[in-house]
Amino acid sequence: MDGNGRWAKARGKKRTYGHKVGSKNVDKIVSHAFKRGVKVLSLYAFSSENWERPQEEVNELMRLLKVYFTKFLGKVIKNNVRLSVMGDMSKLTPELQELIAKDIEASKNNTGSILNVAINYGGRQEIVYAVKKLLEQGEDITVEGISQNLYTAEFGEPDLIIRTGGDIRTSNFMVYQSAYSELYFTEKFWPDFNEEEFDKAILNYSQRKRRFGRIEEE
Ligand code: IPE
Ligand code: MG
Repeated sequence: MDGNGRWAKARGKKRTYGHKVGSKNVDKIVSHAFKRGVKVLSLYAFSSENWERPQEEVNELMRLLKVYFTKFLGKVIKNNVRLSVMGDMSKLTPELQELIAKDIEASKNNTGSILNVAINYGGRQEIVYAVKKLLEQGEDITVEGISQNLYTAEFGEPDLIIRTGGDIRTSNFMVYQSAYSELYFTEKFWPDFNEEEFDKAILNYSQRKRRFGRIEEE
């Protein structure tokens, strides 16, 4: 969900205003994705590197996360969606940690799609964490073993990764899991990304041939 800051600057507003507007876009896209049949939707909300931003901006992002997990998630949960989070939650305020834990608990028996929110998340850190777990358990370090100890162990790898905002990079997102993910980049800033844009990404994805290093079947 990239481009909030530039979206706001282009309107002569502060970056924090862009985050506020961007956060209002989340529900719309989440509902639309689930309506389209997406089984697992991951949102890159806050990276382990985002702490380096000015304190005012970090505070606003944390405030918006609090609002999101307080208010909006209720709706998602009622639609039989299960919440999952990935990242190091220990750096969040106890209040935010509790809110998240409550939403996870409240949705744990939901059997529909999964909403996975990445907060204080870094893909490289995640790999280190997975390897450390294997070592602690005295297990071999294998490709499958690492996969099974990532935050995404239960639901696997993303088929499609969409990045808004025009930058062509993945910025420490699902470094291990994205080896064979299809990537889609759009110039649209996150606050302007809508249902139509989402459908464009899905259509584009549906026209690709995924070979996973093999050759195409005749
Ligand atoms: C949102 O966009 C990303 C986060 C939630 C941290 P940015 O804040 O990165 O916006 P740009 O890229 O500066 O425009
Ligand atoms: Mg950015």
